[in-house]
Amino acid sequence: MNVKEALYTRRACRAFKSDQVDRDTIIDILNNAQQAPSWANTQPWEIFVAGGDALKRINQAYLDNTKNHVPTSLDIPRPTSWPEAANERMKELMSGVSVLVDNADKLFGELNLKFFYAPTVIFLCMDKSLTPWSMFDLGALSQSIMLAATERGLATMPAVELVHYPEVLRSQLDISDNLSVVFGIAIGYADEQHPMNKFKATRRPISEVAVIKGFE
Ligand SMILES: Cc1cc2nc3c(=O)[nH]c(=O)nc-3n(C[C@H](O)[C@H](O)[C@H](O)COP(=O)(O)O)c2cc1C
Repeated sequence: MNVKEALYTRRACRAFKSDQVDRDTIIDILNNAQQAPSWANTQPWEIFVAGGDALKRINQAYLDNTKNHVPTSLDIPRPTSWPEAANERMKELMSGVSVLVDNADKLFGELNLKFFYAPTVIFLCMDKSLTPWSMFDLGALSQSIMLAATERGLATMPAVELVHYPEVLRSQLDISDNLSVVFGIAIGYADEQHPMNKFKATRRPISEVAVIKGFE
């Protein structure tokens, strides 16, 4: 699979099969993704991977917290508002899913809460003193992880919902207090039959996105 094929094959997988991904494959993917660029090669990411019982314990703690109405808290806060155009696209995403899936809102919430049934989650952290410039580096790392996984026939799910109880992650994965838990990427084999995985998010036409001059 070449890069272009990987770019077009990758999509958010919201339901995984229970098959495990082996440790060597995860390490291979992380080794590939380490080639991502970063500001002055600072490589500001710290990576924590949970599979098997470790992931089950984390997910159970999330489920317990949710049941007990423990408020979620992100290390990197959610935006309080979005620009109108971004808001519209978010609405389009949910209405697009609703056309394909009954009770889409409920199912969406359930799958997020159950970590999409993924066998493995990769959690990305960075030092709390770093700025949004390092978030850029973590973004480059994230896409590199997802493309490297795609090349191996694996599916991925980038999700903020995976990190909404950072204290659970800190205690279960021995993440030190100087690190912000930034993001989670679930990884495994897609359940292709699941209705949620039939959805394909659209993109804006490039003529709307980019201003290009000097090629007339
Ligand atoms: C930073 C970030 C956070 C996301 N958080 C969630 C999430 O919590 N739950 C979810 O279902 N999808 C989440 N997504 C997935 C996006 O909704 C998805 O990438 C987007 O709709 C485009 O679809 P595609 O990845 O299939 O191309 C997140 C994606 C990113 C990049």
